[in-house]
Amino acid sequence: MTNPYDAAHSQSIKDPDGFWGRVAEDCHWYKKWDKVLDDSRKPFYRWFTGGELNTCYNALDLHVDKGRGGQAALIYDSPVTQTVKAFTYAELRDEVARFAGVLSAQGVAKGDRVVIYMPMIPEALVAMFACARLGAVHSVVFGGFAAPELAVRINDAKPKIIVSASCGIEINRVIPYKPLLDGAIEMASSKPERCIIVQRPMQRAEMKPGRDLDWNEAMAKAKPHDCVPVKATDPLYILYTSGTTGIPKGVVRDNGGHVVALKYTMKAIYNVDAGDVYWAASDVGWVVGHSYIVYAPLFKGCTSILYEGKPVGTPDAGAFWRVISQHGVKCLFTAPTAFRAIKREDPRAELMKEYDLSRFKTLFLAGERLDPDTLRWAQQSLGIPVIDHWWQTETGSAIAGNCIGLHQFPVKEGSATKPAPGWNLQVLNSEKQPVRTGEIGALVAKLPLPPGTLPTLWNNDEGFLKSYLEEFPGYYKTADAGFIDKDGYVFVMSRTDDIINVAGHRLSTGAMEEILADHRDVAECAVLGVDDALKGQVPIGFIVLKAGVTRSNEEILKEVVQMVRDRIGPVASFKTATVVKRLPKTRSGKILRGTIQKIADNKEWKMPATIDDPVSLDEISQALNTIGYAQARKG
Ligand code: COA
Ligand code: AMP
Repeated sequence: MTNPYDAAHSQSIKDPDGFWGRVAEDCHWYKKWDKVLDDSRKPFYRWFTGGELNTCYNALDLHVDKGRGGQAALIYDSPVTQTVKAFTYAELRDEVARFAGVLSAQGVAKGDRVVIYMPMIPEALVAMFACARLGAVHSVVFGGFAAPELAVRINDAKPKIIVSASCGIEINRVIPYKPLLDGAIEMASSKPERCIIVQRPMQRAEMKPGRDLDWNEAMAKAKPHDCVPVKATDPLYILYTSGTTGIPKGVVRDNGGHVVALKYTMKAIYNVDAGDVYWAASDVGWVVGHSYIVYAPLFKGCTSILYEGKPVGTPDAGAFWRVISQHGVKCLFTAPTAFRAIKREDPRAELMKEYDLSRFKTLFLAGERLDPDTLRWAQQSLGIPVIDHWWQTETGSAIAGNCIGLHQFPVKEGSATKPAPGWNLQVLNSEKQPVRTGEIGALVAKLPLPPGTLPTLWNNDEGFLKSYLEEFPGYYKTADAGFIDKDGYVFVMSRTDDIINVAGHRLSTGAMEEILADHRDVAECAVLGVDDALKGQVPIGFIVLKAGVTRSNEEILKEVVQMVRDRIGPVASFKTATVVKRLPKTRSGKILRGTIQKIADNKEWKMPATIDDPVSLDEISQALNTIGYAQARKG
């Protein structure tokens, strides 16, 4: 017997035009589309070609026009500044319209890029929506990235304007943002015409006369700007994410498919309705923040929470329960690492008992593999469904999940449950053939991908083809490996490239290696992600020094750690490196990363038959032991 999930999934695959065309009726269009799915330029599929809409209108004005203007659209909850402030839909619409007026007065128009480098403050959302209102393309850069990473993004996006703030707050430390911004602009070859800066009282920034504008002063003079109709296929934003090299990929999101897909997921996946309170405890700099702090909850008419704090330390491991009970959160979405942090500080969930969590119905987790311990702890302490779902920056919403708004399936530990509607997932082997049920292989999705997924990379169609479509013709390569069991449950096991997931943040070990290799004393290096009880994975580095280097290892190691912090940012969590005489390699010269990783993670390993010099692995084991990694178990 079919259930609503099976029916929706099979319709979405058999008749994507009919399925998504019906879903799209729920959104506001200035002009209806000519085609739902446009496959005239395969493999570049486009959705809703010919249609015109405005993303900001769908998120804000529509609700005001339909009588929801007095409901809270956004609650800014900031334990680090002791602030709780609600914005109704009407208030947020007015703020956004006014900031759109500021941008327009500075010459920003449809198609122009605006980089947003901000902490978790309401102005970040206002700036994003204001861009959408004008049809400008925003590119938000996470605050934990250092100046060179910001510079790379500025060079690629070429923004007319950058919007930033004087500082962020990390628990109780003030992190000045403006020097990082100034440094990045100095490094970048593409210079913005203006910077608009929110001056926060904890640390005011020095302004550059002639270039920098104060947010409040500009707002005071601005006239509100109306929504500008854009094509469904016009870009809404660019979000840079780690690729396999130091050059990040500019994932593009279009306007039409994005509104349609995200609004649909709010009910189908998260089972929330207009008026419900929805909280994604992430950061606006990540895709989860884009999709589920900023856009989707407001498309649906929910109240979204913007939380400037941490799961622990602001002030304690009861922080999430306080927010949930104070604001009546129905659905929370965060990364497993947040729950590991809470569990570590309050293993018996004592702090939970102090709060009324009766309105809290479901916990969704994503961003990294959900370990069974954390799953069970959350299930047992909360007594509500805990749902793992799998997605990527590229996809903008879940590839697989338990779509509880359609049908709730029993949870299987280690599985993200079933492919979301629109996703035709398959598992292929290296010969590009389907594997047998339950066998591990490359997780790929048959084209076309559903609306809301990346149509291409910014100014880089070729890179898009190369990264995602070339290896398995006719399919999108997720670069995750996994399997699908006999009941159709999807299990995501690991990445197939050198991407690692640190506290739910996506990082490239290749990018870190490029930095280490730049150190004047380093001859060779390798960076690997190893298991970490809190962050899931952390990077560790191995370096081989050039012959004749006489400086102390400690000094050099300190320098390489600092280099990664300065060039990528603190978010890389690169704190451990060690010097080795040589790196274990195959006879053809490939570093034996898999084996080193197994040794570090204390998993059983075998001496590879192709190894060039077996002693090198013993040396690696010893080096790992000296930096506190587990004893190796040779099988
Ligand atoms: N601006 C500036 N610096 C930032 C930052 C920001 N927005 N976000 C993080 N950092 C810094 C941190 O202060 C830390 O610096 P440090 O090395 O000087 O201590 C570093 O980047 C690493 O941050 P993080 O990996 O977050 O580790 P943490 O030890 O500070 O916190 C957790 C650990 C688990 C509490 C934290 O990662 C967390 O809250 N995770 C929740 C899940 C999440 O947000 N996932 C995102 C995708 S859904
Ligand atoms: P990001 O682009 O930062 O969202 O990271 C995407 C990557 O995170 C995916 O390719 C996976 O490797 C990993 N990931 C995200 N969600 C899950 C999940 N639920 N289970 C396992 N891995 C996940």
